[in-house]
Amino acid sequence: MSMRQVDRQFWNGKRVFVTGHMGFKGAWLVSLLSHLGAKTFGFGKDEREKLLYRELRLAGHTRRVGDINDLGAVKAALAESGAEVLFHLAAQPIVLTSYDDPLATFETNVLGTVRVLEAARKSANLKAIVVITSDKVYQNDGASRAFREGDPLGGADPYSASKAAAEIVAHSMARSFFPPPNPIRIATARAGNVIGGGDWADFRLLPDAARAIGAGQPLVCRNPASTRPWQHVLDPLSGYMMLAEDLAHRKTDIDAWNFGPAQEDVLTVGEVADRFVAAWGGDAKWMTESSQAPVRHEAKLLAIDSSRAQRELGWYPRWRSREAIERTASWYRDHYTGVGGGELVERDIASYLSEAPNH
Ligand SMILES: NC(=O)c1ccc[n+]([C@@H]2O[C@H](COP(=O)([O-])OP(=O)(O)OC[C@H]3O[C@@H](n4cnc5c(N)ncnc54)[C@H](O)[C@@H]3O)[C@@H](O)[C@H]2O)c1
Repeated sequence: MSMRQVDRQFWNGKRVFVTGHMGFKGAWLVSLLSHLGAKTFGFGKDEREKLLYRELRLAGHTRRVGDINDLGAVKAALAESGAEVLFHLAAQPIVLTSYDDPLATFETNVLGTVRVLEAARKSANLKAIVVITSDKVYQNDGASRAFREGDPLGGADPYSASKAAAEIVAHSMARSFFPPPNPIRIATARAGNVIGGGDWADFRLLPDAARAIGAGQPLVCRNPASTRPWQHVLDPLSGYMMLAEDLAHRKTDIDAWNFGPAQEDVLTVGEVADRFVAAWGGDAKWMTESSQAPVRHEAKLLAIDSSRAQRELGWYPRWRSREAIERTASWYRDHYTGVGGGELVERDIASYLSEAPNH
């Protein structure tokens, strides 16, 4: 299919429920949806002081603070929202944290997903549900090929295992409780490490870079040789939205979708650091960590093949790694000089959508 963009008409006025709306991807998603005229309803909890979400001033946005492990609260919020589309993003998303607290990671990522889908069973308006998992759901056999949707699931660390389990939960519940004539369609969406301004999470490369360089320090990198697919957050988010459009039109059945960067866009951590400091300018610099930190398992190579989303949804990664890194570096740099997060998000969304080839 030729390259498409999100369908503005579909989203204008649409009621959309987003779990984990206060998180990094959630904040960008509600911003993108609001920009297109959707009525967003956020459900989640997040006690972190420094959050992009707290800087947003969104039109048509309602929110409830609540835990996805509280089934009654999810049900009540979903009923109140009258949403037709649900994006499930709330999760414990950090691999290193999953080693410290495997129980809470599995509780939220696996049983939390069960609860969200259980609440959705009783919903009167829903048509489409997209469950956000990760590129880490694949059994990583160290092979250098990119994973396709049908490849075996696995997970050597608790986070990856919890996301693979969330996949199995979503597909099993879809088959067991939402078969036609139930009007709700469910799909899972797998994307890689995303970057973009306003992520302040620990143990992620670009937030670490922004914090260090913003404070006049060099960025210190673990594993500069390890490779990851890097993509701007707006790329997978637009993919999730195009998938929801497709589900709402009942074009696709229960299924899994990859939304990764272009294959040749897989860069090493060192290359990303090089580009980030160059885009920041001034005397920004980076170095390799020299201390002997305890070795924890971190998958070395991860790449996903998104040809299915390209073929069937017309979704393509739009911002190449270099551009995504440069935009992210300028976002953080401008934020450090006092420009508001909401304004910077809006700037990126406007240029992302204006570059859209609409044919
Ligand atoms: N950021 C990435 O690079 C990346 C890569 C692959 C997949 N993902 C997935 O995307 C989703 C969003 O990730 P993110 O990067 O925005 O992380 P995030 O931590 O910023 O966002 C997740 C949000 O969910 C909230 N949350 C956690 N537990 C909750 C609970 N029990 N009840 C209600 N809310 C709860 C968190 O407080 C946070 O606000 C996650 O499902 C994550 O696994 C992220």
